[in-house]
Amino acid sequence: MFSKPKEKAATEQMLDLDRIPAHIAIIMDGNGRWAKARHLPRIAGHQQGMQTVKKVTIAASDLGVKVLTLYAFSTENWKRPSSEVNFLMQLPIKFFDTFVPDLIKNNVRVMVMGDISALPAPTQKVVNQAIADTAHCTGMILNFALNYGGRDEIIRATKAIAKRVQTGDLTADNVDESVLSQAMMTGSLGDLADPDLLIRTSGEERLSNFMLWQLAYSEFVFVDQHWPDFDGESLKAAITTFQGRHRRFGGLENK
Ligand code: FPP
Repeated sequence: MFSKPKEKAATEQMLDLDRIPAHIAIIMDGNGRWAKARHLPRIAGHQQGMQTVKKVTIAASDLGVKVLTLYAFSTENWKRPSSEVNFLMQLPIKFFDTFVPDLIKNNVRVMVMGDISALPAPTQKVVNQAIADTAHCTGMILNFALNYGGRDEIIRATKAIAKRVQTGDLTADNVDESVLSQAMMTGSLGDLADPDLLIRTSGEERLSNFMLWQLAYSEFVFVDQHWPDFDGESLKAAITTFQGRHRRFGGLENK
């Protein structure tokens, strides 16, 4: 039998602190199954998942990650029972009410992508307040995808570009990757807009409408742990896996 401490030691040995991915995106999956396995209601999984968000945010910031994007609520999640949706809408309030001082202490700036105008007013208020309270922070950007969908984002960007063409601000021939990237919800991140590493927890291996444009050349790491069980060590292990990959961006590997 191999022991866990040994695995962790190996992970720490192999992690190269000089090659930490600049932008990590995470699909935080498995809250419901984590709760079910403990005979708890699904919302207990989300509550525990929020604690994991806190731990992983600090771990990522300590490692020198520049952008951490977390898929917190998708445009499809409205289909869940209203009691669960209501709880998920309360989570940002619970999170920011208790965590903004830690974010500021760690120099972490909050950003949000998605249509937050559709969220309940108290949730919008807290989210906007957290963005304002951390606007001066110059360290890691903690980017929450809230009421976010990759296809919705592409449609919005396409409409915005079409309007620019209509008004003569841009010609159709000038629409290129850079124009589209800037029109995406990650446009303000500039060179950091595209995640280097995508992590999905809970063993599922699909994108679920997440960052369809930005993930074109990202490395994907799927881990079996459910999100509430994920922690700083899991993050380091995923980064170590990333560091073992050879990114070629469609070209040939440098030998
Ligand atoms: C997916 O697990 C998880 C979600 C849809 C919600 C994710 C939200 C959090 C982790 C907390 C977010 C915290 C903040 C601060 C906004 P699932 O419910 O689909 O799990 P299952 O596939 O096992 O049912």
